[in-house]
Amino acid sequence: MSNQTHETMLEMFRQSRDGFLSGMMISEKLQVSRTAIWKHIRKLEAAGYEFEASTKLGYRLTFEPDYWNLEHLRHVLANSTEKQRDIHLLEEVASTQNVAKALAEEGAQEGTLVLAEQQLNGRGRMGRNWVSPKGKGIWMSMVLRPSMPIHCAPQLTLLTAVALCQGLRESTSLPIGIKWPNDLLVEGKKISGILLESSAEDERLKYVIAGIGISVNMNAADYGDESLLERATSLRLAAGEPFGRERLIAAFIAQWDHLYELYKSEGFEPIRELWQSLSVSLGKPVRLTTPMESFLGTPLELLPSGALSVKREDGSVIPVFSAEMGEPH
Ligand code: BTN
Repeated sequence: MSNQTHETMLEMFRQSRDGFLSGMMISEKLQVSRTAIWKHIRKLEAAGYEFEASTKLGYRLTFEPDYWNLEHLRHVLANSTEKQRDIHLLEEVASTQNVAKALAEEGAQEGTLVLAEQQLNGRGRMGRNWVSPKGKGIWMSMVLRPSMPIHCAPQLTLLTAVALCQGLRESTSLPIGIKWPNDLLVEGKKISGILLESSAEDERLKYVIAGIGISVNMNAADYGDESLLERATSLRLAAGEPFGRERLIAAFIAQWDHLYELYKSEGFEPIRELWQSLSVSLGKPVRLTTPMESFLGTPLELLPSGALSVKREDGSVIPVFSAEMGEPH
């Protein structure tokens, strides 16, 4: 099957954007069987295009992925940030984290970005899988070379969550909030996650790979497992309209560059205040689960160390450095 056939078909659909094209009409025009047309449609769907099918009317193109274009992305980024950075755009990878790590080991500069259209083995926190279908989200890893001790790494995660929250709020107008430590939620459902992986030497960070996953234009079917939709959503599902991915990246990077400079010059305090103002996790009872225990408590504030101060049911207040946060029941 040639790409030319796909292009011709897509062009036919684009020309009649609001209308349906019958299988017969397409097959006559392209001089191939209707079964072949059906197979082309399936292939286009696997590539991220979406169609509405009607037994009476045929097919209608309802969504087209905005595939990455390096020159265009460079141009968009150049308009929103002053920092020059290397960008690696990949078609299909196991995880952008692995690629960024290999580049960091080879000496890649701070700010280097690795983006993939699709991840076959996207990684989430706590060893979870991260669903990363083709052309439907931002699957990105950024190489950082912060000059700081290893115990400050969690602050970078919180900084990244603030940058992402502000960038996405600004470009989508959705009521996005941060769930401790670094999940972004809209109406209680996760739309984005951050995974920081670091390499250290003598207690100092050698490099950090900040992995950012944003479920941008996924539809319900893209999640595979429907039960995921009880706690996850995409920007498109939440807003009822698709979003251009380049603009979202540009908004995030502009925020990140600004906050990183602020962090380097003024320390964590301004980031802590911003995080608290964007958080949806403070003041409400939750269940916290660590490898050692599971307990109920109410998060009070983010501490200067980046830990969460939690009031337990017995009235004691403790710092929590790492845990899963869930509903109180
Ligand atoms: C989480 O569990 O919330 C973190 C999800 C992080 C996903 C991103 S997608 C780009 C990068 N590559 C990966 O394999 N994971 C991160």
